[in-house]
Amino acid sequence: MFTHKDLFLANRSELSVPNSMPDDMRQFELAWIDRSIHKTSGESEMPSDLANFRTMLANLIDADAADEPETASFVATDINLDQFRTLVQEFAVDGLTEAQIFWPVMPRLSLAAQMPMMRMMIDEFGSGNPVRAHTNLYINLLKELDMRTDLQYYIDVSGDAIFEFANMYYWMVLRARDTSFFVGALTYFETMIPTFFDCYVKACERLGVQEHAYYSEHVHIDEFHAAEGHRILRAMDKDGDFSPDNAWRGVLLGRHLTMSAFDAAVDKSRDAIAA
Ligand SMILES: [Fe+2]
Ligand SMILES: [Fe+2]
Repeated sequence: MFTHKDLFLANRSELSVPNSMPDDMRQFELAWIDRSIHKTSGESEMPSDLANFRTMLANLIDADAADEPETASFVATDINLDQFRTLVQEFAVDGLTEAQIFWPVMPRLSLAAQMPMMRMMIDEFGSGNPVRAHTNLYINLLKELDMRTDLQYYIDVSGDAIFEFANMYYWMVLRARDTSFFVGALTYFETMIPTFFDCYVKACERLGVQEHAYYSEHVHIDEFHAAEGHRILRAMDKDGDFSPDNAWRGVLLGRHLTMSAFDAAVDKSRDAIAA
């Protein structure tokens, strides 16, 4: 039986050597994706078109913003520095590889849809300035917290929930037949971050963490990325590439796996001290 860490490592080598993933690993991924999509959207009402999808997404984001999870309030008001280091540790697998998995989606989008995606990617990589690349902002944070900056260390110590979150994007970008899953999840994520990362910004302020740019930059830039997400969706719709059902399935899967990774990391931080 595989873990999500095994699948994450297989996904990383899939980027270097396509089609290298063993069949039984693919079966593990497929069974997990089927199960997760069924669980998150099996009972959900589906949007009829893009306009309806946009309304449903906006309503979902508003409802979530009005109902802050206890884990987010804990981070904003109570987390101490050692606990915060564990939280940073648990998301390092994502922060240290930030946005790299999005590259393979590019040729799968129509030309019109590639442009907003490309603008988003340019920001992720610091608009060409390595100092501002989001991964380097994460590295600055790790350094200030006196933590290691090598990915392999975090692969060894992280809980499975962060790998599951990352594996979702690998599946959406590399194997889902329809890119609507990915663009739905991406647009959800970019829209919720400015509100959701507020708890990290507050924690940094309270704890006197200077290298808060990883979080404060996302609060600022993801508002623009959300708008780019909607431009991708519009272009896909115009080009006949948009499935409202699959985009919505992507939203619900993304929401579920984002929140379970966050909750698992906060829970781990409550009773662990980062290395
Ligand atoms: Fe980013
Ligand atoms: Fe973003």
